[in-house]
Amino acid sequence: MNKTLKPLFACLFSGLICTGAAAAEPQVINIKTDGSSMVMSVTSDGEVLFHHFGGRIDDATPVTGIKSYRRTDHGTDNLAYSTMGGRNFREPALRVTHADGDMNTELRYVSHTTRTLADTNVTRTVIKLTDTNQALDVELFYTAYAEENVITTHAVIRNREKGSIVLHSFYSSSLPVKARSYLLTHLYGAWARESQVDHTLLTHGSKSIESRKQVRTTHTENPAFMITLDSESFDENYGEVIAGALAWSGNFRLNFEVDEFNVLNILAGANPYASDYTLGAGESFTTPEMIYTYSSEGAGGASRHLHDWARNYGVWHGHTYAPTLLNSWEGAYFTFDAKTLTEMIDDAADMGLEMFVLDDGWFGNKYPRNDSNAGLGDWQVNAKKLPEGIDYIASYAHQKGMKFGIWFEPEMISPDSDLYRAHPDWCIHIPGRMQVESRHQLVLDLSRKEVREYIIDAVSAAMERGNVDYVKWDMNRNMNMLHSDGLDSAHQKELNHRYILGLYEILEAVTSRFPDVLFESCAGGGGRFDFGMMHYMPQAWCSDDTDAFMRCRIQYGTSMVFPVSTMGAHVSAVPNHQMGRSTPLATRAAVAMGGTYGYELDLTRLPKEELDEIRRLNEKVKALQPLLLYGEFYRLCSPFEGNKTAFMSVSEDRREAVVTHVYGPAEPNRQPVLLPLRGLDAEKEYRDVESGRVYGGDELMTHGLTIPRAWGDYMATQFHLVAVD
Ligand code: GLA
Repeated sequence: MNKTLKPLFACLFSGLICTGAAAAEPQVINIKTDGSSMVMSVTSDGEVLFHHFGGRIDDATPVTGIKSYRRTDHGTDNLAYSTMGGRNFREPALRVTHADGDMNTELRYVSHTTRTLADTNVTRTVIKLTDTNQALDVELFYTAYAEENVITTHAVIRNREKGSIVLHSFYSSSLPVKARSYLLTHLYGAWARESQVDHTLLTHGSKSIESRKQVRTTHTENPAFMITLDSESFDENYGEVIAGALAWSGNFRLNFEVDEFNVLNILAGANPYASDYTLGAGESFTTPEMIYTYSSEGAGGASRHLHDWARNYGVWHGHTYAPTLLNSWEGAYFTFDAKTLTEMIDDAADMGLEMFVLDDGWFGNKYPRNDSNAGLGDWQVNAKKLPEGIDYIASYAHQKGMKFGIWFEPEMISPDSDLYRAHPDWCIHIPGRMQVESRHQLVLDLSRKEVREYIIDAVSAAMERGNVDYVKWDMNRNMNMLHSDGLDSAHQKELNHRYILGLYEILEAVTSRFPDVLFESCAGGGGRFDFGMMHYMPQAWCSDDTDAFMRCRIQYGTSMVFPVSTMGAHVSAVPNHQMGRSTPLATRAAVAMGGTYGYELDLTRLPKEELDEIRRLNEKVKALQPLLLYGEFYRLCSPFEGNKTAFMSVSEDRREAVVTHVYGPAEPNRQPVLLPLRGLDAEKEYRDVESGRVYGGDELMTHGLTIPRAWGDYMATQFHLVAVD
């Protein structure tokens, strides 16, 4: 865990205010990283206006000369945090009904402070605002990470009025941008084909990206985006790009509104859809954290900023070695006993793998988990399948020198379970209405304290019994039929928000109790791939689709925002269980090396040659892991633009690189590909470890690396380049 993250998120989730030191000059607020600035100013009547998010400006005073992008009678277009009221006509970041029914809010500057945190790379600016008429305060927090060129932001809303107020919208940030054109890039998809890349040239009006699925939020859209400024085409290497990602695992909304004067206003935060939040007198509300970066080196530069920030600050155990593993799911599904598992462990150990993960199916006694119909909630070992307990399987793995991991789906409950028999009211349901099951399961109501306590105790007990090193935390349905028995009618609309805060409270408790355990987040694959979960879990299962060619697209899209070290990627059997496609073992392995590497198949079914190949591959992955997972990542060739994919990782000192190229289906008369590389040292020479051939860094980057013609479908080539002294 990176030390500086805890204080940041402690503020975020508890609503504490981190007070600063001496106040700076109030007129110009310039929040800087090594390569970017966010500039705001305070007008004579106290409005805080936003002027610039882009390249770094040391003296920002001239930038603040233009007060607005438009005439004042057309409204205010660049408030640092827009509200409903005053001269604002656009969709606001904050919409409140005050205690006396007043629907207007006009925020004015009170003070601001800037201070450097104990980690001197990080500076935090807090701008205090208050309403002109009502006792409502807003504090805007901006945390600047100098080396990573990332600025994160959230708002704290405080009600000092005499009675309750209702928050209708409470976005984390509003960001006005002024350019000639805006190309929006975002990730969309569905189960088993997540993180597909969409490019849309924004026209006047609004475009929003959102989730209303409550908990499994990112199969269809991800709360992240890139905006390419002043260009109608997406470019990996050149041009100005603003990118953002929201650290929130519930309903979200990113709204892009281009107005009549061509100003783009980006709203980002929790989704206001059916989510009014009643804030009692004296209470405060903290929005989720929004993460922004600016790059003048195209989309690739923006991704690398986000990757650096994620590894250094945003992701729990962001630099921890990810053990190579065998997961039992696609090899055994629900059908196993102790013998099956110990044999799997023997095979995995023999192949040189470092961890065995026991997936779904190990729990439930009276209602055994032999398929997806029963058992969720009963986190005791199934004594019929595993009579000697989980600890026996765990010790077996440990004796073989391997780590042991286990699957849970703690937020869920099966109607066929002891837990449901004991507490039928603990699931989210509407009294009198028919329950909607999905995968035969219901969602536990995490807004309730007793439910949270049960989950923390049950999961902790099973983890302790099994002496586990790794947890796969799954969650396999959306949430609907919203109602909580624990909330009165005035607070029912807060259920989604309170559920997610409840989830974070559970994860905080469990990860604090087991600080050395690695957690993998999963939601039917990539249904919850966000920085909210990554605050607790260093990796997420990218997709239930393990087909290598589909994975090229999914992982390529995911890499726009998230580093390779967060992407769970496994080699599985062919024909692939989700698509029926067969790809060569070398290709499946090369693609899985674009994430945290593992296997998900029955090794006993493979021919000897493949087992020998797997042994060799595992040694290669272990040797290259630091470079593959934590190197600088460059996307070289997009699977969304043609029939092939290429990417590379380069070590920090630029002395070593791994380049992967994957062809699509076979084509007649295929020609060799010339692939220009990135991120190398032009002055150096590099040797390809396999062929021994030496290339100049300049040659590789300007002319390119020749990828040989390939015969057959889905052929991959990998090059390990090492600088020649
Ligand atoms: C989800 C996960 C899979 C597997 C199954 C088990 O679908 O995404 O990886 O764990 O659940 O039921």
